[in-house]
Amino acid sequence: MAGHDARGRSMGVFGVLIRNGEIVTASDRYVADVQCDGGKVVAIGKNLNQRAGDQTIDASGQFVFPGFIDPHVHMELPFMGTVSADDFESGTASAIAGGTTSIIDFCIPNRGQSLLEGLEIWNGRAKKAVADYTYHMAITGWSDTMGEEMRKVVEDHGITSFKVFMAYKGALMVDDGELYEVMKHAAKLGAVVTVHAENGDAVWHLQRELAARGDLGPEFHPVSRPSSVEGEATNRALMMARLHGATAYIVHMTCCESVEALVRAKLQGQKCFGETCPQYLLLDDTVFVKPDFEGASYVMSPPIRPGHMGHHDALWRGLSNGMLDSVGTDHCPFRFEQKKMGLHDFMKIPNGAAGVEDRLQMLYTYGVCEGRFDLQRMVALGSTNPARIFGLYPRKGTIAVGADADLVVYDPAARGTRSAKTHYSKSDRSIFEGFPVRGKPSYVVVNGRIQFADGKLDVERGAGRFIKRTVTRAPHSADQPAAVRT
Ligand code: URP
Ligand code: ZN
Ligand code: ZN
Repeated sequence: MAGHDARGRSMGVFGVLIRNGEIVTASDRYVADVQCDGGKVVAIGKNLNQRAGDQTIDASGQFVFPGFIDPHVHMELPFMGTVSADDFESGTASAIAGGTTSIIDFCIPNRGQSLLEGLEIWNGRAKKAVADYTYHMAITGWSDTMGEEMRKVVEDHGITSFKVFMAYKGALMVDDGELYEVMKHAAKLGAVVTVHAENGDAVWHLQRELAARGDLGPEFHPVSRPSSVEGEATNRALMMARLHGATAYIVHMTCCESVEALVRAKLQGQKCFGETCPQYLLLDDTVFVKPDFEGASYVMSPPIRPGHMGHHDALWRGLSNGMLDSVGTDHCPFRFEQKKMGLHDFMKIPNGAAGVEDRLQMLYTYGVCEGRFDLQRMVALGSTNPARIFGLYPRKGTIAVGADADLVVYDPAARGTRSAKTHYSKSDRSIFEGFPVRGKPSYVVVNGRIQFADGKLDVERGAGRFIKRTVTRAPHSADQPAAVRT
């Protein structure tokens, strides 16, 4: 039996035996028991013996999924003059309530700040997390020391993915020369480069033109960031990755143009990945004209797209046919008072919304129950693929002996409605307010301990661990069409 770790935190104090659930991995579905001990899955089989002290969950008629992994969240992020409303404690608690047992946040040093200094700041914030975490390391500017810092981040700190923003001009945005350097050095290290793909210069000009006309309400946010701006940047990022043989992962894809760019690259043999988020699948741009400034709650970048132009279908199809690889959330909530910073100017509305708690139920209800993909594909998109792409597999992302005991027991018979009134996030708005959902996580086991049951959390501040990763592919692999191999 597990006890306490060196810091006195309980670690799977009791074993947990999950009986008779239908285990669903990315490849299999079968009914069996799962025994957890010491934070690990220790046995899977029929009629496993209950050991003294084991807590037992009867999962008959329910699914057992590997803990979901959110590859895209921003807890406690200083952004646009404020800070995102969920810190690492409330954000990871909210994640657990929604069946997500690990997160990948973004460590975002300021331009000119060293990556290692940024890492120290993020480690200070993240130590109160209740679920396991790692980060993508953002590069927000280039200097002569950056290549060596990138090496240290990967080899000494086990952070094997980077992030570049091609938008947010004057803040986080990198230019093409900087993008070139990041791709080049990441390729040498075998690291993945995650990319926010929007043409930040074009956005800047569109914003100026709208401002000159006095078009400053939240409904003009999407006008300033049309899908062509995203498609162009997606293509440019992928070409820059190809130039160096780097692995690119395009975050929060929203539109046909960017899916087309990704498909082209994949069909040409390039190793690259695409992520979308539930809001881009399920909402359309009519949200921006809600009265009383409520449209501001939906302001995020890239923006939610019109419903009549095929973007939603392109994303759903990509998820089912394997052209898109994962569903993250871009969880980055701001309370309505914070959104009011942009009451008279949409450019000042902090960009982002909550989502980490909604993802599994939205995928199950609108993906699986509506026949868009099957249960195994849902597990792949929300757990196994993020784990594989970002070097967490097989410790996480599947149910297997020796894997972390991060498990979701999901009751498909439950019915509910998503609402800010009932979610655990500190956000006072839900962009999925009133959406009916099928099924719910009835139990969530994290690190071998039941941390969510009967709608209630039982989490421990600081119990989440930083998970070190190793690169998943050799630098400059032959599978990558690289023009430059130095
Ligand atoms: O609007 C968004 N997406 N906010 C969070 C930062 C980012 O671009 O991912
Ligand atoms: Zn972004
Ligand atoms: Zn983001």
